[in-house]
Amino acid sequence: MRLTEEQREILEGKEGEILQQAMIDLVKYGTAMGAEEFVPVSSAHTFFMSPESIAQYFPPRRVQLTERQVAEFCEKLCRLQVTAKTTVNPGPADLEKWRQMGATEATYRSLKQAAEISRRCGMLTNWTCIPHLVDNTPVLGEHCSWSESSALIYANSITAARTNREGGHASFFSGLLGLAPKYGLHLDENRKGTHLIDVQCTMEKRSDWGALGYFAGEKAGDGIPVFINLRRPTVEEAKQLGAAINVPGGAPMFHIVGVTPEAPTMEAAFGRNEPIGRYLFDASVKKRVYDRANNQPEGKVNMVFFGCPHATLYEVKEISRLLDGRRVAKGTKLWVMAAHPIRASAERLGYAQIIEESGAELLADGCLLTYYVYFDSQRPNLERVATDSLKHALGVRRSFGSKVFFGDTERCVQVAIEGGV
Ligand code: F3S
Repeated sequence: MRLTEEQREILEGKEGEILQQAMIDLVKYGTAMGAEEFVPVSSAHTFFMSPESIAQYFPPRRVQLTERQVAEFCEKLCRLQVTAKTTVNPGPADLEKWRQMGATEATYRSLKQAAEISRRCGMLTNWTCIPHLVDNTPVLGEHCSWSESSALIYANSITAARTNREGGHASFFSGLLGLAPKYGLHLDENRKGTHLIDVQCTMEKRSDWGALGYFAGEKAGDGIPVFINLRRPTVEEAKQLGAAINVPGGAPMFHIVGVTPEAPTMEAAFGRNEPIGRYLFDASVKKRVYDRANNQPEGKVNMVFFGCPHATLYEVKEISRLLDGRRVAKGTKLWVMAAHPIRASAERLGYAQIIEESGAELLADGCLLTYYVYFDSQRPNLERVATDSLKHALGVRRSFGSKVFFGDTERCVQVAIEGGV
């Protein structure tokens, strides 16, 4: 890769060993991806689950570090400031209601340390998978380095920012250096559509957008689906569409002809690409996706989950309206996961109180899937789950073997009230 003088000096260690190692890794990574140079990035979205997980981004890797080694590393890290605006994906548990989530004291302590270290480095540690809707909203053409498939597909497609699908290491190093290897979606020619999805059915419910996303992701794989005959989605619908595309596939972006910024016309959406395939999404295909996601047509439900990706304030408001004056059935939990600032607003506006009076929980900072995969816990019963998120439905099936009811938000609230389908 061609480096500027300043980048070369960092590579030679003139700015200290942490930045040097970050630069060594990004140069190796960029070279492997065919990048010829770096592009400055003004935004990064990364992971910071625990001090040890960050220390292990750096050599010596893949070894169990002692507490002292981790502390020494973090002390050095805290002397640095991130260069790009850097936000953090959900951790394993709510920093306030970690006991309700069943997290251990050790998990909580580690999260608190991570929060403090990342704060000292200048990161906006909001622990959310919707940074673009909370405090890290990129603008058209802005180069970014983001992890979290559901967030980066939204950023590329809806705001027309430019990010590849980066791992935790690369996005963290990019946050520190303000640079990313210039390859993939940073370049115009790689942002064109590959697969055409013709939508010929109504798209009334938010869960319909998850079903469409799953179908498109299955067809497009790592390509870029282009939707035609699809109306303008709301923020919440676009969130579900992008999150679900990445369940069976790895598409980093999509276009909606006549709606998304880089697809005013079919020609603009595809550029010189010939569509690899043309696929029809009609009412019968939609029903087939619901039937596939839904492996619990009836019976008791232990957990009703909303907020994958994290709920917006509008969604929290809607759930509180549906729960107002009602009680969640005994033996069933209803959890709503949101970003911390969204919960703070919901508390101020009274939505949080309505949700909690019904026996449900409004949680923040966490991700149900990450939590149970990586940490010991007194896990709530996830044997039978209901959700309006396609990503969550298939995630809990895969991770915990849950029986799942996938349906729209209103129906899922009803399931929580009745305790079953
Ligand atoms: Fe967010 Fe976790 Fe879903 S990170 S998108 S709540 S799987």
